Amino acid sequence: MKTLFSGVQPSGIPTIGNYIGAYQQFAALQHEYDSYFCIVDQHAITIPQDRLKLRENTKKLAAIYLASGLDPDKITLFIQSEVAAHAKAAWMLQCVGYIGELERMTQYKDKARQHSQKDGISVGLLTYPSLMAADILIYGAHVVPVGEDQGQHLELTRDLADRFNLKYNDILTVPEVKHPEYGGRIMSLNDPARKMSKSDDNQKGYISLLDDPKAAAKKIRSAVTDSGTEIKYDKEEKPGISNLLTIYSSLSDQNIDSLVEDYAGKSYGEFKTDLGGVVETFLSDFQSRVNDYLESGKLDDILDAGAERASRKADKMVTKMERAMGLGRKKR
Ligand code: AMP
Ligand code: TRP
Repeated sequence: MKTLFSGVQPSGIPTIGNYIGAYQQFAALQHEYDSYFCIVDQHAITIPQDRLKLRENTKKLAAIYLASGLDPDKITLFIQSEVAAHAKAAWMLQCVGYIGELERMTQYKDKARQHSQKDGISVGLLTYPSLMAADILIYGAHVVPVGEDQGQHLELTRDLADRFNLKYNDILTVPEVKHPEYGGRIMSLNDPARKMSKSDDNQKGYISLLDDPKAAAKKIRSAVTDSGTEIKYDKEEKPGISNLLTIYSSLSDQNIDSLVEDYAGKSYGEFKTDLGGVVETFLSDFQSRVNDYLESGKLDDILDAGAERASRKADKMVTKMERAMGLGRKKR
């Protein structure tokens, strides 16, 4: 069976963009692979975090993963900092990567711009993709489901794996990226030219998975739409409506073509009111599952077992990497 790996940062509460671009895919793919899902708290501290908030978000993220339909008996769910192999392999891969290729990463450039004045730019923000490559490569992952914004990091991961294999020993699996067919890039509700992001300053732009469902429906009703009146899928001419159609289709059983057919001749207002209802129902159901997990006391057991299983697998690869690079003594 092939291996799947993906990770999400506990730096805030995920949005419906994360759900559609990431978790929904995870749930759909979990049974086809030996699947590892990671809460990447070491990635989150590349920008300053409040200690207590980070802990709280880490727990909530575990519940959100499970509420998205992941089966803890089938998959391995764990916290990155609880598996030492990630940081060890990240160091080795930092010594394989080049500063120039890290400086070219779009996410680095964006975040560096945002944080340069406020807090300074941490070294970790630059070397972050080496840690992400380590996450993936120590499990020998064949596929990595992520939203489109992570495509560039995946390319770099492939390059690092190739370079390591060529320079040292051919032991790393070069992973494939997997983006969802639709919904790999859900856009902001008040500016369809920008990605929906949980760190957006304007709260009207995104819907968090733990937002009050009624307030979320209201955000949908006031979402920016395009000129004209026709409801159709056209990302260039109608980015606002196309984004809402993608959200609608992802949260219901209907494909985009059948939604376009249903809404022929109807108004933007009617469409948005209906979508608001879909989002409201989705969030109420979702949040009741999240709360069940948070209150059940099962989370710690699931995360403990996950960290143990993950370590068992990852330690083997780290040992192979250390041997290939000549670190430590050769074991007798
Ligand atoms: P992050 O919250 O940045 O750790 O992202 C977690 C996952 O959600 C990654 O796979 C991202 O690619 C994906 N993601 C983030 N924002 C969006 C978005 N607006 N639309 C679709 N997927 C997204
Ligand atoms: N960098 C990813 C993000 O910000 C999160 C992440 C870290 C990840 N390690 C990963 C995703 C490994 C996939 C595989 O969204």
